[in-house]
Amino acid sequence: MNVGKPLSGQVALVTGASRGIGLAIARRLATMGARLALSARDAKRLEGVALELAGSGAEAVAFPADLTRPAQVASLAERAERQLGPVEILVNNAGVGYFGPAHEATEEQWDEILGTNLKAVFLLSRAIAPGMIRRGGGHILNIGSLAGKNTFPGGAVYCASKWGLLGLTGCMAEDLCSYGIRVCAICPGSVATDFSPHAGRDTSKMLQPEDVAHAVAMVLTQAPQSFVSEVLLRPTRKP
Ligand SMILES: NC(=O)c1ccc[n+]([C@@H]2O[C@H](COP(=O)([O-])OP(=O)(O)OC[C@H]3O[C@@H](n4cnc5c(N)ncnc54)[C@H](OP(=O)(O)O)[C@@H]3O)[C@@H](O)[C@H]2O)c1
Repeated sequence: MNVGKPLSGQVALVTGASRGIGLAIARRLATMGARLALSARDAKRLEGVALELAGSGAEAVAFPADLTRPAQVASLAERAERQLGPVEILVNNAGVGYFGPAHEATEEQWDEILGTNLKAVFLLSRAIAPGMIRRGGGHILNIGSLAGKNTFPGGAVYCASKWGLLGLTGCMAEDLCSYGIRVCAICPGSVATDFSPHAGRDTSKMLQPEDVAHAVAMVLTQAPQSFVSEVLLRPTRKP
């Protein structure tokens, strides 16, 4: 392993890479030598990220896609692998929130949250995993949430997506570990991004996107015999 660039040459596909946690993960993987396939809906913003990473010497290509559209998920996997080669690291990070009681949520809101946070992870992992099986290894990292472990008022729809994601992650880990594929969930508490409002909180005490990227880097630099299957990430001080 190249110590300075432990992921040298490996292809990593990161969803939700245009901002927030996904952007921090993309930057971190670039410093580790990965070649990056970046995805999100906002093509212009994504191109900006690809340019930034290319400016620092990394290979990074933007593949805009709306993950709530199954055909776009399939095309994302196909285009990324055709252009960059087999995906060895898949980071399912893209996600959206809805915070309000379930009895006030619309079916459209349910479909958007579950479609992005859960179904898209199934679809994209299903597209990428067979190649990993053939090659005998890979990493699938799903960005879950402590909301996938807890319940709170107004969290029903979001929690349903993240509890479901942890079930999907755990079972896929069981199905794929004998092929050398490690499927891991990283579950942060509140992170200082635009994802949700932080009124009245000291954002400097909150988890930062780079803290999640650090956890991703730790998981990706394990020894081959080691399998961290779940990471729970909390701030050291109450924000
Ligand atoms: N922030 C937190 O407090 C926190 C805590 C725990 C877990 N998480 C999880 O961490 C992940 C990232 O959150 P974040 O805080 O970085 O959120 P964010 O700043 O709002 O970024 C979300 C990312 O997902 C992309 N995205 C959203 N819907 C999409 C769709 N339909 N298709 C493709 N891309 C889509 C967005 O890009 P476009 O809008 O351009 O598509 C953006 O790049 C999410 O899964 C979230 O549930 C966040």
